[in-house]
Amino acid sequence: MKEVLLKVENAKAYYKLEKASVRAVDDVSFEIFEDEVVGVVGESGCGKTTLSNLIFMNMLKPLTLVEGKVLFKINGKFEQISSLPREEVKKRFWGTQITMVPQSAMNALMPTIRMSKYIEHLAQSHEIDVRDLLEKAKERFNEVGLDPLWLRRYPFELSGGMRQRAVIAIATILNPKLLIADEPTSALDVVNQKVFLKVLMQLKKMSVVRSIVFITHDIATIRQIADRMIVMYAGKIVEFSDMERMLVRPLHPYAQGLFNSVLTPEPEIRKREISVIPGTPPNLINPPGGCRFHPRCPHVMEICKEKEPPLEEIEEGRKVACFLYSEGKL
Ligand SMILES: Nc1ncnc2c1ncn2[C@@H]1O[C@H](COP(=O)(O)OP(=O)(O)OP(=O)(O)O)[C@@H](O)[C@H]1O
Ligand SMILES: [Mg+2]
Repeated sequence: MKEVLLKVENAKAYYKLEKASVRAVDDVSFEIFEDEVVGVVGESGCGKTTLSNLIFMNMLKPLTLVEGKVLFKINGKFEQISSLPREEVKKRFWGTQITMVPQSAMNALMPTIRMSKYIEHLAQSHEIDVRDLLEKAKERFNEVGLDPLWLRRYPFELSGGMRQRAVIAIATILNPKLLIADEPTSALDVVNQKVFLKVLMQLKKMSVVRSIVFITHDIATIRQIADRMIVMYAGKIVEFSDMERMLVRPLHPYAQGLFNSVLTPEPEIRKREISVIPGTPPNLINPPGGCRFHPRCPHVMEICKEKEPPLEEIEEGRKVACFLYSEGKL
């Protein structure tokens, strides 16, 4: 039996604007097990980054948890981190239990701050001896293939690939159980992408981190490391399955479009990626009723326009939100 590390239950995370709400994550439930890599894929704007902020409980205005819960297992017991004050989550969870490499993190490092300064800040905020943590940072730099002397350098002195490895070294310095990485390889060239994935898997193998949530729009990358895969569409999870079955036979029509375009042997189609699904994702202030994918779906039925399909387990370990399956049409 796999142990659950994190649970998200019926969570709605909206950007509350003056006159409207952007329903960026809209009623999602899932769990992350100990010792697994979960990939999250979906088109731009489908809510991947919002989901990562929800898991990390980094809710900054206007982002608001409108409904639902996030639970994290600490010392064998689930704690509802979504009900704790931000300061407490920061102190007791961030860095030690759960860590996040935000989208574009490597470009967000302050150019005038040496890498070692980040370690000093971390030591102070967690009341750890600075020298001890700097020693640990040197080891970690080594482990990710960076010269420990580079801790003294400024971010701009490092190449993109090195900077991203420095970010991951710093983010994991306190051995958090869960790492959320939001598009960590998107800005890297193919060679550096490979190096980065290797480093990530090495950190997992060494139990520096136990579980990884890897957000990307690049299926070709994620298929190399993920055990399970979440497919998001317009703020919803439309399919959640293990990697093998998802690759062999995606079930949700959106997942089918997404995967078939990437896995096709024709390079021209592959290059165009998901553009083989006609249409564009909806505006999340006022998404279509029923199934949010219905205006683009090649298999649309009457019921899809009226009712929202629930995310249901249709095979062991496979969930899909589509009436083609729950209505027994396929
Ligand atoms: N600060 C904000 N205020 C209002 N709306 C926002 C804000 N940030 C994101 N959104 C909206 O929320 C929705 C989900 O955005 P999100 O950034 O989570 O998508 P994403 O899947 O990470 O996209 P990408 O692949 O481009 O990174 C989008 O419609 C986006 O426009
Ligand atoms: Mg994003």
